[in-house]
Amino acid sequence: MSAVMKEPQISRPVAQFIGSPKKLLIDGKWLPAVSEATFEVKNPASGATIARAAEGDKLDVDAAVRAARRAFESGPWPAMTPSERSKIVWRIGDLISKYTDELAELESLDNGKPVAVARVADVPLAADIFQYMAGWCTKIEGKTIPLSVLYTPGVQYHSYTRPEPIGVVGQIIPWNFPLLMAAWKLAPALATGCTVVLKVAEETPLTALRLGEIMQEAGLPPGVVNIITGFGETAGAALAAHPGVDKVAFTGSTEVGRLIVQAAARDLKHVSLELGGKSPNIILEDADLDVAIPGAASAIFFNHGQCCCAGSRLYVHERLFDRVVAGVSDQAKTIKLGSGLDPATQMGPMVSEIQRDRVCSYLELGKQEGARAVTGGKAREGSGYFVEPTVFVDTKPGMKIVREEIFGPVVTVTPFVEAGDALVHEANDTIYGLAAGIWTRDVSKAHALAARLKSGTVWINCYNIFDAALPFGGYKQSGWGREMGEAVLDNYLATKAVTISL
Ligand code: NAI
Ligand code: MG
Repeated sequence: MSAVMKEPQISRPVAQFIGSPKKLLIDGKWLPAVSEATFEVKNPASGATIARAAEGDKLDVDAAVRAARRAFESGPWPAMTPSERSKIVWRIGDLISKYTDELAELESLDNGKPVAVARVADVPLAADIFQYMAGWCTKIEGKTIPLSVLYTPGVQYHSYTRPEPIGVVGQIIPWNFPLLMAAWKLAPALATGCTVVLKVAEETPLTALRLGEIMQEAGLPPGVVNIITGFGETAGAALAAHPGVDKVAFTGSTEVGRLIVQAAARDLKHVSLELGGKSPNIILEDADLDVAIPGAASAIFFNHGQCCCAGSRLYVHERLFDRVVAGVSDQAKTIKLGSGLDPATQMGPMVSEIQRDRVCSYLELGKQEGARAVTGGKAREGSGYFVEPTVFVDTKPGMKIVREEIFGPVVTVTPFVEAGDALVHEANDTIYGLAAGIWTRDVSKAHALAARLKSGTVWINCYNIFDAALPFGGYKQSGWGREMGEAVLDNYLATKAVTISL
């Protein structure tokens, strides 16, 4: 890539949006931080500063939590019928769809991902989770429960359960799918009638702020969703520890997940976590390589490998090993790196200089540990935070590049002899358990292996298939609770049992 990269043209709505000061959304008003501090928002394709965002901190978090509490206890939100709430949540999805082009461009500019990908993946999935969850608003039901109460013979009781919103929710999200992560968190919280303080990632605040405007346009009452931009150690930590928060929902690193649990422990807040991964992707001897090779490549290279569920450990039957390594490497070599705004780009930059350096440190470490990069293995020269898609072979199970989440376009490929216990053991030999992939033509083998993999998601002859109706989350240190589907409602509901003596 040339050192000077021509920046593609930014559209008028996006230019207007990033040209105005980016503030915090508290109680329906856009406010600067109490400290008046701001921080730089960068375009990772060039390193240029494109906007400044308010640097929210403890005082701002406190104001936001108070607003969310008022909205939860006494605003119009709790008084609304489920149907009225449903219409607002649906409208948020509608408006996201209406502003698809603008949101996709903004996401690309802020995060670095190709605008074409944001347009067909991030934005429509964000719209869809609101519309899926809009349906749940009117379908959250309790049960009637027949009682026996052995020590009150002859007395009749009528008992029923009421699923109730858990209260004020603090949500902390990462930068890899900024709009979509906001949507995955907000939509179920709104469907259940909770109110929210959302702390967005400091690397990528822009689309969540635009979503804040969209939610206002959709008619969401003030204080129901409050949005704080700022840093993790300050704003994020203040939110996780705030006594006015009933529940914390977090997506990010396993390391910070632990800090969230510690911060929440003091008041025994409810916590759900969606954390890291080191997902095994297994190509069995009878796999259709015309499908498995591009599938394995996209399992790791989609979103530049910045996916918690990236298929980062590829296990291949020894008889197919050379063909798969060659095939995935060929795909890696042809991926066109560039600015996400360039329509020809297939892979953008890492989200930040820190992440670029972090990924590169693993590339060096891999080589020191004795692995060999068949392709890639270094950052791209020139401006922007680009890393070459990398395929490592000659790996050993103890290597850090095999054990630790790299969160970049880096895959390790390891041969296996037989799809038996040893393979299952190696696939499960990780602190994580988010996702796994299996490629085979044998239906029985596929289901048998799927049952033995300790992960919240298993994809067979496909990868990265997400749907608003499908629960997603981790085993082991990949997290607590599930996102999406009916399962996510549990994160935001408390069950009350009511009994009346008849
Ligand atoms: P991170 O876990 O530090 O950041 C995620 C969110 O947590 C951000 O909003 C951040 O501001 C906030 N945060 C950070 N420290 C906090 C604290 N002490 N209290 C409360 N909130 C806090 O992740 P980071 O530093 O951006 O990336 C580091 C690594 O984490 C990545 O290389 C990757 O391995 C992993 N990661 C995993 C993600 C996932 O989807 N599971 C997403 C992002 C990162
Ligand atoms: Mg961090």
